[in-house]
Amino acid sequence: MNVLGIESSCDETSASVWNGTSILSNVIASQAIHEQFGGVVPELASRAHQQKIWTTVEQALLEAKLSVQNIDYIAVTNGPGLMGALLVGLSFAKGLALQTGKPIIGVNHMDAHIYANFIGETKPEFPFLALTVSGGHTQIVLVKNFFEHELLGQTRDDAAGEAFDKIGKMLGLTYPAGPQIDKLAKMGNKKTFKFPQAKLDGYEFSYSGLKTSVLYRLKKEAEPEVFIAQNLNDLCASISDAITEPLVKKIKKAVLEYDVKTVVLAGGVSANGMLRSKMKTLAQHLKLNLFVPDMAYCTDNAAMIAITGALKAERGMIDTLGLKPFASLS
Ligand code: KG4
Ligand code: ZN
Repeated sequence: MNVLGIESSCDETSASVWNGTSILSNVIASQAIHEQFGGVVPELASRAHQQKIWTTVEQALLEAKLSVQNIDYIAVTNGPGLMGALLVGLSFAKGLALQTGKPIIGVNHMDAHIYANFIGETKPEFPFLALTVSGGHTQIVLVKNFFEHELLGQTRDDAAGEAFDKIGKMLGLTYPAGPQIDKLAKMGNKKTFKFPQAKLDGYEFSYSGLKTSVLYRLKKEAEPEVFIAQNLNDLCASISDAITEPLVKKIKKAVLEYDVKTVVLAGGVSANGMLRSKMKTLAQHLKLNLFVPDMAYCTDNAAMIAITGALKAERGMIDTLGLKPFASLS
């Protein structure tokens, strides 16, 4: 079964082919234009998707050595995401489905981050817990079976990736700051600065207090730029610690409460070195099977859309050309 995946929910235009056992191609066109604005500008994202969608899909088919006629299903992200951005991928997918007569399958972007963990040879066993941490979401999900998900809790305000990006902006880093903070943190000491971690009941998270606390800490300095330059690595390490610690604590709590043996990481922040290392330690301690996607499948990509499309196709979960985009999708 060959599935073409198309992703355009935010600022990456991506297309990929999954052949039932492996990813044949995963082409990602990133949009550097947002760097200068410190965040994704929706209208610019839509325009960039329009410019890149055709060549990205063509390249994915070329690398997979397949023509569109060899494709059995067209899987496309239909939410959550930026409406204008989603519309580009969805309209393109519908056009292709109409032209070729191939069935279309709508994929929930956050589901796809979870099912990216099924790309490898060893698959997670149900039930498992998913920590989905991206630029727009921070959730703990109990995955009971394929597409049977229970949301245990999520962030009340900023997502973990958003916290990395917004705090990074205060430190003078460009968007997206997450990967840069990750790199700098590796050379710093996480104990140098003590930033607060929200203590919420259940499985909820909050990062707005951390953001404010970093802002006040920088404002205390007569010359914040000089202070940042002299302490950048330690600041990044301490901030990374404050962002990742609640994630690990809540996953531990959920593992014990729901008695699961498997945990998967999902979303862009799962690329974070400190989070991966803390989760590995927890997994050893609690004897868990920990799944962490390959780096290429952590941040937004169409390979995760293609495999999720295949899993849906195997279960008869096919859509029609009436498929709609949703900016929010539970
Ligand atoms: O999943 P993703 O590519 O897009 C969304 O669905 O949001 O996640 C992007 C987010 C950004 O906030 C980015 O800063 C963060 O993931 N991110 C990281 C790392 N790589 C990406 N955050 C921390 N450490 C990283 N290595
Ligand atoms: Zn994402």
